[in-house]
Amino acid sequence: MAGNLFGISNPKELTTELEKFDYLADEGLSVALFLALSLSRPILLEGEAGVGKTEVARTIAAWLGVPLIRLQCYEGVDAQMAVYEWDYPRQLLHLRTLEVTQADHSSGLDAEVVEGELYTERFLIRRPLLQAIDPGSLTKKENGRVLPPVLLIDEVDRADDEFEAFLLEALSDYSITVPELGTFTAEVPPIVIITSNRTRDVHDALKRRCLYHWVEHPSFEREVEIITRRAPEVERSLAIQVAAIADKMRQVGLYKPPGIAEVIDWARSLSLLGETKIDADSLKASLGAILKYREDQDKIRSLDITELVRGAVLKGV
Ligand SMILES: Nc1ncnc2c1ncn2[C@@H]1O[C@H](COP(=O)(O)OP(=O)(O)OP(=O)(O)O)[C@@H](O)[C@H]1O
Ligand SMILES: [Mg+2]
Repeated sequence: MAGNLFGISNPKELTTELEKFDYLADEGLSVALFLALSLSRPILLEGEAGVGKTEVARTIAAWLGVPLIRLQCYEGVDAQMAVYEWDYPRQLLHLRTLEVTQADHSSGLDAEVVEGELYTERFLIRRPLLQAIDPGSLTKKENGRVLPPVLLIDEVDRADDEFEAFLLEALSDYSITVPELGTFTAEVPPIVIITSNRTRDVHDALKRRCLYHWVEHPSFEREVEIITRRAPEVERSLAIQVAAIADKMRQVGLYKPPGIAEVIDWARSLSLLGETKIDADSLKASLGAILKYREDQDKIRSLDITELVRGAVLKGV
């Protein structure tokens, strides 16, 4: 393997690798990811819904052939859900079994011995952060090198401040202490990808630890390529019109501009309906595949659709 730990020497090579998995990254994203991989730094990806933040983490794991460990953030997510917890029901069961067997032999239980038995790895439930820091059998070895798993901390903006502070601590030295067992430290730091929809700002302290990239909606040309790769059954001429209209939809101030997934769905839907081009009727009939809010649909319906379609067709020529 040439290049860095991951066998690539520059962002272009990374773009090519990701393309093999049907992920088309623009230059800015490839540069940011290349640097994060080469410097072993977490990367924070912000951007609107559906621009490919989560998908890029999946694609990197698929490319390297390493596990993707996902921590989905939500309001109230805490260390128990993120790091580890003790398997309380199994501990209780174990205790009951011990009591019964000891009663049969009419000997008492030694509290210290029992406690020691209850707090062992056997009863430890590993949550994503601990899995990523101490991946054990999940680790991939290649040519004597250890390839770490990808840790995706998805939608960090949904978690609260305390959790973010906690994350910062765990990511600062890639080690986690379980008081009863000791400290786990990563042999090789995991590839950390943090995403945010920016419903609130991520704290500066966390940002300082990470490289940062704002993921844009794709350009018209790139979106055409994405549609043709992800939905090969769609005719290219239709893909061109879909991408052009989606581009336009993102410029008219919709409440929820379409993400790439919706655009692919729309192209597929039109294709299923037997359309090879978009006209006013087919656009109106299939809007539900791309716009999920009535107000947004109304706004598009109120536009001059013939003009919109003509503009799209011209763009695709
Ligand atoms: N650059 C890309 N190349 C190919 N396909 C893409 C790309 N970006 C997005 N997609 C497609 O769009 C879908 C949605 O992307 P993804 O779920 O990663 O968006 P997201 O930014 O995480 O959105 P959200 O903020 O809603 O979670 C993916 O499943 C994939 O099919
Ligand atoms: Mg996502």
